Amino acid sequence: MKAAILGGTGIYSIEGIETVDQNVETEYGSVIVKKGTGKWNDLYFISRHGSDHSIPPHKINYRANIRALSILGIERVFAIYAVGSISNLVLPGRFGLVSQFIDVTQGRINTFYEGGKSGLKHTPMDEPYCRDLGSKILLSAKKRGLSLAESGTYICTNGPRFETPAEIKMYKLFGADYVGMTGATETALAREAGIHLAAVSYSINWAAGIKDDLEFISDKEIAETKNKLTAIALEVLFDMPGDCMCNQHQS
Ligand code: HPA
Repeated sequence: MKAAILGGTGIYSIEGIETVDQNVETEYGSVIVKKGTGKWNDLYFISRHGSDHSIPPHKINYRANIRALSILGIERVFAIYAVGSISNLVLPGRFGLVSQFIDVTQGRINTFYEGGKSGLKHTPMDEPYCRDLGSKILLSAKKRGLSLAESGTYICTNGPRFETPAEIKMYKLFGADYVGMTGATETALAREAGIHLAAVSYSINWAAGIKDDLEFISDKEIAETKNKLTAIALEVLFDMPGDCMCNQHQS
């Protein structure tokens, strides 16, 4: 079984694992995927903003990234998202398993099914994240004494600008716990592709207007967070798959 980690802000490599760059050609463009070596031969890594954080959220080639995973035969994905906290569920510096998303992006192509040759398919999103991987992540976090919110709603804005306090007030009324700029697009495509994806959000700031200032946690803290999350990812991704809904609707 092959598996991948999709990393965002602050996550440009996997600690302790040597990788080689592999270029994967897809009908949406080419993607550089980092492939683990030695013992981690079946592990892949994509840095969604590029390894120098140069690709803004609205310009990420989400379809190429997810298609590249399919072409490589990757079945399970651990996605990590930096977010801003809206509710008190995941405080800055903390993590949470994402269980739902709200998509308020505009103008992104967020489907493989555009009609015509690519066909038309309405993919159910009742359970957008892999239940099995999610429960394994929770167990692994518990074992490590890491506090991880068991569920949470991610609202995905278009970016690259941050939100206004008025927008965040509205998103709070929508029921969002935290805000990011990439999660919904990536998750929906992974679900369309039948990939088992679980996501962990880690908060790096209070969302606009929630507290007086938009203070970000330090790069050092982000690096520590990254190491804790990748340790969990490496433990759960290659575990025996259990029950989930991810393939329920695949044709
Ligand atoms: N808003 C949107 N995306 C983010 C934020 C935020 O406050 N923090 C980290 N990603």
